[in-house]
Amino acid sequence: MSGAEAAQVPRHVAIVMDGNGRWAKARHRPRSFGHNAGRKAVREVVEACLREGVQALTLFAFSSENWQRPQDEVGALMGLFVRALDKEVEELHGHGVRLRFIGDLSAFDEPLRQLMQAAMTHTAGNTRLQVNIAVSYGGRWDIVQASRQAAAAVARGELRAEDIDETCLGQWMSLADLPPLDLFIRTGGECRISNFLLWQVAYAELYFTDTLWPDFDQACLRQAIEDYARRERRYGRTGEQVATAS
Ligand code: FPP
Repeated sequence: MSGAEAAQVPRHVAIVMDGNGRWAKARHRPRSFGHNAGRKAVREVVEACLREGVQALTLFAFSSENWQRPQDEVGALMGLFVRALDKEVEELHGHGVRLRFIGDLSAFDEPLRQLMQAAMTHTAGNTRLQVNIAVSYGGRWDIVQASRQAAAAVARGELRAEDIDETCLGQWMSLADLPPLDLFIRTGGECRISNFLLWQVAYAELYFTDTLWPDFDQACLRQAIEDYARRERRYGRTGEQVATAS
């Protein structure tokens, strides 16, 4: 792949997987039926990222706010995560996928936490695609936890408050070690960030589609990548400056 072709493929894609409930409702089925169908869409997108050469994929599976959903839906989602971890990790490992969970993992019960930890440990040596699953995650939570780490470093005398800048705080944000977020996708028709990667989204290209998450397949991801490849990323510069630089 040439340098120009590589630039057409986003290095890091994040997805808000919205629309499972509406997809199920249209079929007169419970919301959990939609979440189950959503799991199949996750497989599709992971396969597409492997094929396209995307380096990192971050999925919003459960937000800090999702705990407020009805108890039976939260329970069904937890059951789905456990089944997915039981069944899919070995196959992902076989494809060279490294798994990471980001968010307030302390909010989950011990058996689920152990499954998440085991999946991360098992796949830690893989390098083909990094898949991050955001659970009990919120962009504001992320900024708060990074700020706490900075405050703790100041309290230990290792850092001066006046030396805290974007680079310094950024090192404690989730996913700081990965390529910057290039493409942020939201399915399901809403045009919102909904407290997903607030810090990391700063220069990402945003892509909103009406397609409900269970219907989002490999062709849909290809379409999003083609749309991304047509955009001009200026990072605050003028179009002329970008043209001269490239
Ligand atoms: C939002 O749709 C979706 C969720 C809150 C859950 C996302 C979970 C999955 C796709 C399950 C598979 C994930 C993994 C990592 C195995 P919604 O319920 O808000 O839909 P609605 O807007 O139509 O009601």
